[in-house]
Amino acid sequence: MTQQHIGRREPLKFAYWVPNVSGGLVVSTIEQRTDWSYDYNVRLAQTAERVGFEYALSQVRYLSSYGAAQQHESTSTSLALLLATERLKVIAAVHPGLWEPAVLAKFILTADQFSHGRAAVNVVSGWFKDEYTKLGLPWLEHDERYRRSAEFIEVLRGLWTQEDFRFAGDFYRVNDFTLRPGPYPVEGRPHPEIFQGGNSTAARFNGGAHADWYFSNGKDFDGFTEQYDEVTGIAAEHGRTVRFGLNGFAIVRDSREEAQEQLREIIAKADAASVEGFRRSVQQAGPSTSDRKGMWADSSFEDLVQYNDGFRTQLIGTPEQVAERIIEYKRRGVDLFLLGFLHFQEELEEFGTTVIPLVRELEAEEDARAEREGALRPASV
Ligand SMILES: Cc1cc2nc3c(=O)[nH]c(=O)nc-3n(C[C@H](O)[C@H](O)[C@H](O)COP(=O)(O)O)c2cc1C
Repeated sequence: MTQQHIGRREPLKFAYWVPNVSGGLVVSTIEQRTDWSYDYNVRLAQTAERVGFEYALSQVRYLSSYGAAQQHESTSTSLALLLATERLKVIAAVHPGLWEPAVLAKFILTADQFSHGRAAVNVVSGWFKDEYTKLGLPWLEHDERYRRSAEFIEVLRGLWTQEDFRFAGDFYRVNDFTLRPGPYPVEGRPHPEIFQGGNSTAARFNGGAHADWYFSNGKDFDGFTEQYDEVTGIAAEHGRTVRFGLNGFAIVRDSREEAQEQLREIIAKADAASVEGFRRSVQQAGPSTSDRKGMWADSSFEDLVQYNDGFRTQLIGTPEQVAERIIEYKRRGVDLFLLGFLHFQEELEEFGTTVIPLVRELEAEEDARAEREGALRPASV
């Protein structure tokens, strides 16, 4: 059953991938006027909040690999960006198994206090086996990783909302623990928001049953709807609601042909050895599951040139075409768009000043139409 969210009043949210690893967001030898340095990222974050982006997502990668030769760590990058901005919420990607949940919970609360309530996390369950085994840490089988992530999320939430918190799971134990100070008070937000990235059956369960936000890799309309239906069903069974973020690589140009030509060039200049290496490595994720619903289970070589399948969302064309497509995704339940760009600083700014205002106009039209038809749903909370 597909739900159409026509007339939902809450404006769509925009997030961008923080380029905190080198090599940009596409594994291609094409010129990318994107830098991974601290100074570049501070300027980018300040631009982003000025032009209408509400969130930034810092990536986590610990080892040189597949086009990402150098990396800045995600939680420290996130804190730095929080301190350099005023409104931007910064989501730090974190791996259960590499962090103790209570230590991370404390770190994020400090960041939350220092930023007046703008810290968030993206719990990722991992695809890169070497990042665990080369540190002598166990690499769990796919669904076990997600069971651990579920406990990790419950520990974060418990420590962020309860005093004398206790937890006894298969992976974590907490005995009468209280973190002070707690989350910075923000109306309607009980604790730093918890996103989770992953699209397999196990990830969908965690999205519906545990997380505040479900992040999808790039998908076409039907691919998104299929996940939306399953995850909202799981959430309903647990008496919860969950919000949806969708990844997309935006190529906005004066004409669709120009945008498509840009995409062709990115793919034609792909760093084939790195894309192929990445493809082999991510066999540990979605492809390793029996129903093969997860990320990268059916990704082609071309898809993997943007390593989160961002081309599949097809935000490729003129500002008007891209805005129309974004609205169609919103109708299907997307609450947030997570975006990557070829030349981050210039294209993110351009997106914010051209596409976001068009999206706002279309949202106003949708609301007006829904109101006329008496079909307006209350804003989601
Ligand atoms: C939006 C998003 C962001 C992600 N960010 C990272 C990251 O920064 N580092 C990382 O190792 N994995 C990241 N992942 C991948 C997860 O670790 C995991 O391997 C992936 O979600 C595959 O899960 P699946 O098998 O459940 O589909 C991300 C996934 C999504 C959807």
